[in-house]
Amino acid sequence: MKTVVVGITGGIAAYRAADVVSQLKKDGYCVRVVMTKNATRFVAPLTFETLSANPVVTDMFNRETPWEVEHISLAKAADLILVLPATANVIGKVAAGIADDMLTTTIMAARCPVLFAPAMNEAMYTNPIVQRNIEDLSALGYRFVGPKQGALACGDVGIGHVEEKETILRAAYGLLEPKRDFAGKKIVITAGPTREPIDPVRYISNRSSGKMGYALAAAAAARGADVTLVSGPVSLKAPAGVKVVPVRTTAEMLETVMKEYVDADIVIKAAAPADYCIRDVSPYKIKKTKEEISLNLSLNPDIAAAVGKEKGDRFLVIFAAETNDVLKNGMDKLERKNADLIVINDVSQEGAGFEVDTNIVTIVDREGNHEVLPMMRKDEVAGKILDSVARHLKL
Ligand code: PMT
Repeated sequence: MKTVVVGITGGIAAYRAADVVSQLKKDGYCVRVVMTKNATRFVAPLTFETLSANPVVTDMFNRETPWEVEHISLAKAADLILVLPATANVIGKVAAGIADDMLTTTIMAARCPVLFAPAMNEAMYTNPIVQRNIEDLSALGYRFVGPKQGALACGDVGIGHVEEKETILRAAYGLLEPKRDFAGKKIVITAGPTREPIDPVRYISNRSSGKMGYALAAAAAARGADVTLVSGPVSLKAPAGVKVVPVRTTAEMLETVMKEYVDADIVIKAAAPADYCIRDVSPYKIKKTKEEISLNLSLNPDIAAAVGKEKGDRFLVIFAAETNDVLKNGMDKLERKNADLIVINDVSQEGAGFEVDTNIVTIVDREGNHEVLPMMRKDEVAGKILDSVARHLKL
């Protein structure tokens, strides 16, 4: 029987953990609950003791198994640690390596996956310190589910509401019973923008942050793939277990992809390579001496089309960033670049495309089968894209 350690911290959403603990128990998992001191102010430990049919641990120094060091034995027993709700405080402590209570010491001693379900006020969640901590922990392989938009305890409406029970459980089961459907497959993924130099200090580029491509790389690695991420200049950390090859220009991205794709099974082109480069790059910084200057641009190579031309039995997924005639333009690209699947994002919609943490996509295959997805976080979109690839390849 697998063990889930549910860590409950001090937030109003602590009561939402009751349903999740109850469902995990019904689904046959051994559930051990650890509550922080503040969590016990929101819900009584007796609730979780009854639902989990196990004693609830609240104090480091009140061990019910005196012959064992409890945080170590809990960490060893855990197949998953689910922190629900995860406050800014617990996220910050774990990110900083602080282990000063039963929950944080257990997390620090754990080798199993740790899943945080954050819940807090929107201003706290969007605070750059919290966002940086989440990014740092994600890069180390810690996982996050939610938060979502909704009514917050403080009366505000915004991002910070704890995720729905079903979504949390789906994420937990994904980690407890991980799919390894891409084991043995090499996937080359491109991400981010490219930069085309104008002179030694200036360039043209676009707004791609790399988030979509990095989410795909993390999800594919978690599903067992050998992932090479060819990345334009972004400020994201390399996902755990992924080989990152940094590139700058579209020409460099083409060269690297053509090298890496030789022994690849799947290529996913989530990057936004610059379509044009400067024809005559100035070797010197251009001086501000004229009222107007013009730049001559030359068309860059199309990496996706180059892969499509000689892909053999490799599976090629491309993206389309469209603002009008979205489906038609996307389908044209699928055909023109000889891809197997196209992920069309209408980048004119709020919550889709460049820079944001969410995307709104339609996945279309060569037969014209459509999967229209609602707005989702980019890691969820990545999961859906991989599910579609797995279905097409019968993995
Ligand atoms: O990075 P984020 O901020 O998370 O944003 C994600 C995204 C919007 C960049 C991503 O979801 C996306 O849509 N990527 C493709 C952007 C793009 O260049 O679209 P396109 O329609 O211009 O190109 C179609 C396909 O050809 C894409 O797969 C692209 O990678 C590829 N391409 C384009 C130009 C080029 N010279 N070589 C290419 O391979």
